Amino acid sequence: MERQEVQKIKLVPTGDGTSTLFNQNLGEHYHSVRGSYTESMHVYINAGLRSLSLKQLTVLEVGFGSGLNALLALIESLTRGIKIHYLTIEKYPVPQELWTGFSLPAEIEQYREYFLTLHSAPWDEDVQITGDFVLHKILGDWTQYELKHSIDLVFYDAFSYDKQPEMWAQERFEMIYRQMRPGGVVTTYAAKGVIKNNLRHAGFSVERLPGAPGKRHMVRAIKK
Ligand SMILES: C[S@@+](CC[C@H](N)C(=O)[O-])C[C@H]1O[C@@H](n2cnc3c(N)ncnc32)[C@H](O)[C@@H]1O
Repeated sequence: MERQEVQKIKLVPTGDGTSTLFNQNLGEHYHSVRGSYTESMHVYINAGLRSLSLKQLTVLEVGFGSGLNALLALIESLTRGIKIHYLTIEKYPVPQELWTGFSLPAEIEQYREYFLTLHSAPWDEDVQITGDFVLHKILGDWTQYELKHSIDLVFYDAFSYDKQPEMWAQERFEMIYRQMRPGGVVTTYAAKGVIKNNLRHAGFSVERLPGAPGKRHMVRAIKK
């Protein structure tokens, strides 16, 4: 996908009542159509954030997209008193008319104001969203991005390997490995063999976990 290419994106409902988005250029959904909230909680919060006992951490998300993962991390920060520096990179920001129309599940509807704040925040600077949550949205191309921060946790939420193999390249994982503190974790919905191999060759210990509803497996990689 080239930067000049206009992305045709639309809102679609998912099985748990939460919206997701669909990129018509690539024919890719942003989350599982079985349930976007259910999948994000399973892969990124339960298998990711809650697997670390840190009270202060830096999270990197590959693909800000709808902002749902960022909102779930913010809610964890609020409800569990965790300090989070949340870095997230996006090449194709979602238009305002889509994020304002995004349906959240009843469980987190009370946090809608924060969802809007995450989207309205300026790009390419630290923005204090709550006392404990700092957001830094990077407008850029992950395949070219040079990571300078030390990180503890990665939400690896790129489109599929079949559509964007360059997003899952071994050298991307090597860069993460270099910048990651020991004990750090990469978590992703994807479980393709080539992705696991690229993570292993980059130095990670890779484990396959049960996937969110509708998907057999997901992957978690740890820097030992
Ligand atoms: C699976 S969706 C991410 C879903 C997102 N985490 C969420 O919670 O909605 C993949 C995202 O990666 C973005 N993306 C695609 N190519 C990219 C690139 N080269 N660099 C950065 N982001 C990219 C897409 O625009 C899309 O938002």
